[in-house]
Amino acid sequence: MKLLITGGAGYIGSHTIIDILENTDHEVVSVDNFSNSEPASYDRIEQITGQKVRHYDIDLTDYKRLKEELFEVESAFDGIIHFAALKAVGESVEKPVMYYHNNLNSQINLLKCIEKYDIPAFIFSSSCTVYGEAETLPVTEETPVSKTESPYGYTKLAGEKILEDFSKTKDNFRAISLRYFNPVGAHMSGKNGELPKGRPNNLVPVVTQFASGWLDALAVHGDDYETRDGTAIRDYIHVSDIAHAHVLAMEYIVAQKQEAVYDVYNLGVGKGVTVLEVIKAFEASTGKKLDYTIGPRRAGDIEAIYADNSKVRNRLGWEPRLTIEDAMSSAWRWQEHLNASRDYGKARP
Ligand code: NAD
Ligand code: WQD
Repeated sequence: MKLLITGGAGYIGSHTIIDILENTDHEVVSVDNFSNSEPASYDRIEQITGQKVRHYDIDLTDYKRLKEELFEVESAFDGIIHFAALKAVGESVEKPVMYYHNNLNSQINLLKCIEKYDIPAFIFSSSCTVYGEAETLPVTEETPVSKTESPYGYTKLAGEKILEDFSKTKDNFRAISLRYFNPVGAHMSGKNGELPKGRPNNLVPVVTQFASGWLDALAVHGDDYETRDGTAIRDYIHVSDIAHAHVLAMEYIVAQKQEAVYDVYNLGVGKGVTVLEVIKAFEASTGKKLDYTIGPRRAGDIEAIYADNSKVRNRLGWEPRLTIEDAMSSAWRWQEHLNASRDYGKARP
């Protein structure tokens, strides 16, 4: 297969390219405008896989360039995996128009190209954020999507709906939305990982940056939730396990195994883990003690969410291969790699 990966220089996209290059014979082309990544990401992929990635620096919201400089130059793609999006929940509340413009127009332009160049398969990065605060846990794909908290969340809800409606109109086309839970960790080599710009908000980069002295505090956001230790529960999934699901999903639809023209899958480990348990897993797998503090709840946070993942297991044959300890030890190796490398300056807040 020849696959187009959008957002291939980003966190999940780069790990997916690595999985494809390491485990399949599929050909990969990437497009990314580096709005939240950098060209060195492709060097890291090459270092790990020994293969160069053909890539384009194009903003997907620019239909003319996308069509003329990418789709008219490359021969037909067998499928597109669409990661490119802006993803910072808080920023989307501050800049809703920027989020709607970037995320929705990028997707719409790709669908226009799919129509024009007759591309048969599409995988969309969705998010557990579409469930908001669910009434019953674990959430299944039938759990109602609810009023999500942010414009970012709405770009995912709308993105799913646009894709579903489009899928019904096109012959010989199959599409999947994968609803990721909380992606964490880095390539097990420690040579590729998340490179948040500025001060991170997500728990694991905060933990690793605090442990290496980049941040001066690690606050647990609330210990008064109705959970086993009072801290919030999430379903943390190793980024390489997320990556591999895209390979399985693409092969599944290209082999015409999916009857429905469009379908949705939860992509989580299926286990709820508290914030304190994440901290303990980090301490246990790295031997580093974290002197955290307990702070107030963070605005907009939900108490608990984790996935029922039976659909992705049963239909795609996916299962998580890495543990939360693997996620913590690899994230730490990546942080140490950053500390020792030229990427340091770029990533350090
Ligand atoms: P990321 O920011 O690391 O990667 C996204 C990439 O897309 C970046 O390299 C960025 O430069 C690129 N990009 C953004 N807008 C673009 C545009 N208009 N044209 C070209 N390139 C563009 O994010 P990630 O964590 O790898 O997330 C990938 C996808 O998964 C996103 O759609 C995100 O919303 C979704 N997702 C992420 C998480 C998470 O917590 N990381 C959870 C659920 C869903
Ligand atoms: C996890 C837990 C925090 C930092 C976000 C998006 C979601 C999806 C995944 C894209 C929470 C707590 C965190 C800290 C803490 N992304 N925490 N101290 O908010 O579950 O999900 O990423 O689709 O849409 O909202 O992830 O990593 O920010 O937080 O105590 O310094 O860790 O309060 O309970 P979240 P997170």
